Amino acid sequence: MNYEVIKSRHSVRSYTNQPLPTEIRHVLTALIDECNSNSGLHMQLVCDEPKAFGSSLLARYGKFSNVCNYICMIGKKCSQTEELLGYYGEKLVLKAQESGLNTCWVGMSFRKGKIPADIRHDEKLYAVIAIGYGATQGVAHKIKTAKQICPEIDSAPEWFRRGVEYALLAPTAVNQQKFRFKWSGENRVEVNSSWGFFSKMDLGIARLHFELGAYPIKVEWVQDAN
Ligand SMILES: Cc1cc2nc3c(=O)[nH]c(=O)nc-3n(C[C@H](O)[C@H](O)[C@H](O)COP(=O)(O)O)c2cc1C
Repeated sequence: MNYEVIKSRHSVRSYTNQPLPTEIRHVLTALIDECNSNSGLHMQLVCDEPKAFGSSLLARYGKFSNVCNYICMIGKKCSQTEELLGYYGEKLVLKAQESGLNTCWVGMSFRKGKIPADIRHDEKLYAVIAIGYGATQGVAHKIKTAKQICPEIDSAPEWFRRGVEYALLAPTAVNQQKFRFKWSGENRVEVNSSWGFFSKMDLGIARLHFELGAYPIKVEWVQDAN
């Protein structure tokens, strides 16, 4: 994945009326199908549907406007699902960005009851990703330094430092960036995260970014017990 795609992605909450072109719908749907079959998740693209973000209350108090397309982050009700959704959902976010679209992860401020998705009895809708042509490209936010998320960064190899740099550009709920990375020798990376709303989803998103930065080194993840 091109660094420019990672660097230029910012959350966008206001969209134009331009619908998603058919080819882009096909590209996204094919990637969603591939991710679902690799992970057991049940993510779904919903297009041309304004009601999930459309109530007068949300329009008045929410930050979102003109969201008519979104990806539903659906998976089994179990402890691993949030992190998996983060990891695979962010693949979709970056593919969208690469295709000239804008996105925003949304954990709150949408109407769950209005979403016409197929949610099975053992599944849950955890979040959505708003997607479309942004009214703007969004803005860069203040992020932590590499030392804050990895105090021993100076003694780590270059691929690891690039992984940390990419992870710092990952979106996180309320920009919390609760994750920490540590080099454990060879291609091993220890990762953990302190508690916070959606911090497991954030961790999945950050792990994907880290792997893209570390490429072509294939990261072996060592998950801390915390
Ligand atoms: C799991 C997750 C949930 C989020 N939920 C919301 C939300 O409910 N409302 C919102 O406006 N932004 C939400 N965001 C977007 C974050 O606020 C945003 O990613 C963060 O402030 C960093 O900004 P950036 O994405 O432009 O880099 C969420 C992001 C993530 C990763």
